[in-house]
Amino acid sequence: MHDLTRRPRRLRQSDNIRELVRETGLSTDDLIMPVFVTAEEDVRRPIPSMPDIYQYSLDRLDRELDELLEVGIERILLFGIPAEEDKDAIGSDTFSDDGIVQRALRHIQSQYGDELLAITDVCFCEYTTHGHCGVVDDEDHLMNDPTLENLQRQVVSHARAGADVVAPSGMIDGQVGAIRSALDDEEFHEVPILSYAVKYASDFYGPFRDAVETEDDFDHRRRYQMDPPNQREALVEAELDVEEGADMLMVKPALSYLDVIQTVDDQFDVPLACYNVSGEYAMTRAADEKGWIEGNEVALEMLTSMRRAGADVIISYFARAVADELP
Ligand code: PBG
Repeated sequence: MHDLTRRPRRLRQSDNIRELVRETGLSTDDLIMPVFVTAEEDVRRPIPSMPDIYQYSLDRLDRELDELLEVGIERILLFGIPAEEDKDAIGSDTFSDDGIVQRALRHIQSQYGDELLAITDVCFCEYTTHGHCGVVDDEDHLMNDPTLENLQRQVVSHARAGADVVAPSGMIDGQVGAIRSALDDEEFHEVPILSYAVKYASDFYGPFRDAVETEDDFDHRRRYQMDPPNQREALVEAELDVEEGADMLMVKPALSYLDVIQTVDDQFDVPLACYNVSGEYAMTRAADEKGWIEGNEVALEMLTSMRRAGADVIISYFARAVADELP
């Protein structure tokens, strides 16, 4: 037997020493919790494919937000679910002063002020009768440039209602530039843009469509969301968004795209977010319910892998469930 001088196991012998040499941290400050707000009243509706995640009406939202703050989650990503009769062909509820997100923002601003950072998902698919992320032509194809004008109206309306950050998620070409100029024209110079810059056409979004009750028309989305086999294209998307004024970038989904997170992080110096999406949550919880894995432990490992790949910020439905375990 030769002498072993290098023994990596020496640094693994206790919690204390493991914590000393740990390379990657995860804390509640890294996490953003998605929150679904419905225009109905007196509702706290479970989402079947996403255990412990609910749609809340405004009158029942505070308890959820109080609980998030109690466990140290101080940032939310807000999604609105309008009444069926408020949906139309262009998603005009998204830029109505009386829209569900605008009402939610005013409520959150008045109840929580700066305690809670409210980020809005900026898109149309939850608000259009056809479920597309913008304006469509007679053949049901998304029209890029007309959609930009409505995006401008939407972000200005969000900012007026008190949005702290806007997060355009529609993969519309030129959306970041259009949004930046609309915000600046209205003197909202200090509202940052978190761009869903690198968003793949992914089947991992399945449970989300349940959560917001939209049409699941996946084929069309492949025309504007990125093709999963592509990585270099992520750099093209990210570069355009940085040039157009994105303050933060996002890669979505997260788990199957850790290589993309790493590549984007290597190339760009703005803060990088990733979205640990609904399908990633659902499959973990489903296996946990079967007793096949320890869901929260697996979640912590997944979230840590996203940080290790280079994500500064993680949007995750696990934020609340794992917060107790985190600094
Ligand atoms: C678009 C949007 C979607 C998600 C976040 N914003 C759906 C889509 O692009 O089809 C998915 C999030 C998730 O799956 O958790 N409004």
